[in-house]
Amino acid sequence: MSAANPSLAFPGASSSGWSATRAATYNDKIVRQFAVMAVVWGVVSMLVGVFIAAQMAWPELNFGIAWLSFGRLRPLHTNAAIFAFGGCALFATSYWVVQRTCQVRVISDKLAALHFWLWQAVIVAAAITLPLGITRGKEYAELEWPISIAIAVAWVAYAIVFFGTIGIRKVRHIYVANWFYGSFIIAVALLHITNAISIPAGLWKSYSVYAGVQDAMVQWWYGHNAVGFFLTAGFLGIVYYFIPKQAERPVYSYRLSIVHFWALIFTYMWAGPHHLHFTALPDWTQSLGMVFSLILLAPSWGGMINGVMTLSGAWHKLRDDPIIRFMIVALSFYGIATFEGPMMSIKTVNALSHYTDWSIAHVHGGTLGWVGYISMGALYYLVPRLFGQKQMYSQRAIEVHFWVSTIGIVLYIASMWIAGVMQGLMWRAINADGSLTYTFVESVKASYPFYVIRFLGGAMYLGGMGVMAWNVAKTILAGRAQDSRIPTELAQA
Ligand code: HEM
Ligand code: HEM
Repeated sequence: MSAANPSLAFPGASSSGWSATRAATYNDKIVRQFAVMAVVWGVVSMLVGVFIAAQMAWPELNFGIAWLSFGRLRPLHTNAAIFAFGGCALFATSYWVVQRTCQVRVISDKLAALHFWLWQAVIVAAAITLPLGITRGKEYAELEWPISIAIAVAWVAYAIVFFGTIGIRKVRHIYVANWFYGSFIIAVALLHITNAISIPAGLWKSYSVYAGVQDAMVQWWYGHNAVGFFLTAGFLGIVYYFIPKQAERPVYSYRLSIVHFWALIFTYMWAGPHHLHFTALPDWTQSLGMVFSLILLAPSWGGMINGVMTLSGAWHKLRDDPIIRFMIVALSFYGIATFEGPMMSIKTVNALSHYTDWSIAHVHGGTLGWVGYISMGALYYLVPRLFGQKQMYSQRAIEVHFWVSTIGIVLYIASMWIAGVMQGLMWRAINADGSLTYTFVESVKASYPFYVIRFLGGAMYLGGMGVMAWNVAKTILAGRAQDSRIPTELAQA
């Protein structure tokens, strides 16, 4: 595993000239590319989110144009937010982390570049096909088979680079963040390929090989683990590397991080059926999903506590450092979402919450608060380092971003909680003679003020992201793209 000459660890590198220089530095270009695109796609996906939030309050904003309609833009929002914004943040951070913790350059620059360009092509293809109404109709797996295959190819390239880099590492120990990233890569490959198997019926149409309730089961095994591995495990990789770095303190308990890892990945795989309560799915399967969801509370909170306690003895940083604030508040939202989720998986609670805006509150507590904030914290850490600067162009702008978007999140999720519980109660209210107390449209009317509040909250969150984009652009313009050198004393150790 160890090589006396750093260039030997990089296949194809000679000991002189350009390749030697390259072998002595990390490939930070790939990190820069994904980091910048995370910011770009963040703005785009949230803009679409705010637009569809406005359509929920003012449906005329459909303008009678099919490709501007809510049904077509909603999957564009979810795909862009999860796979374009969240994905690029995960790829940028994982390429940074795996090189630093292994003390080597990525095993292949070319495959990393293929990963980047193919992923961007997939996003553009999604942005064209979804508004045109081309969809497989499976949530978070809407993209038709040619795009689905491109995703698989990009993913294989990513997996080869990530695990290949671990294979040529110069540090014996594989740092825990890499375990989380690694599980994210393996699980997403398994989920995507299994759920996407379909029979093409033309270039832009295909049918799932699964039928009926089996199709639903596979879809929500996929859907839930997309939450567990795409929206959680990968971002926990960020937690375990970037929080200790930014706080300048070691992880609170390394032992707990290992227990956290194995408990989390084992438990997540079984919880999918909580999305299918009271359906044709066998009852015992639903109960199994519920029980595993309840168990999931323990590893989730174990991880959250481990992250938060890393600040132990340095709590003042929460006051002084806006970047660490993003990260710790992210963990708090992670704690909220992973407490709420198990509660919502209890059948009697789900009987009230399902189909209501309560789910939307839960989702955005997780995505805006957890996924969004941990990504933003890590990007604020990375951007100055990637462009040879000591810190972001404006610390004040980070503060502004934090407060505007935090108020935005609170408005978003509080309004959706209230609307959700109200809708659930209105739908189940019955008169003495057994007839429904409210018509459906009455519940829609009652939701209107909350949709307006959600729109305002979303617009504030987007505003914060706009401030970030400005700050990132200024930092880039003030600096110069540069790749860090691999520390030689460690590389030769
Ligand atoms: C400015 C910020 C955002 C706004 C205004 C917003 C708005 C919305 C709206 C209006 C919906 C449709 C709700 C419905 O069908 O009733 C939605 C769904 C969704 N959004 Fe967002 N969103 C934002 C950011 C994000 C981010 C950053 C992510 C992920 C990283 C995300 C992930 C999702 C998901 C997964 C759904 C589908 C939820 C479900 O099916 O239950 N959103 N969003
Ligand atoms: C212990 C952890 C968690 C559990 C047990 C859990 C459980 C649940 C439950 C029961 C639902 C409602 C299902 C329904 O009625 O249709 C749900 C929906 C959802 N959750 Fe979670 N949740 C957890 C954490 C999270 C986190 C951290 C995120 C985001 C980062 C998240 C994202 C979502 C999404 C996107 C949906 C909507 C799925 C859909 O219908 O489209 N969850 N979750």
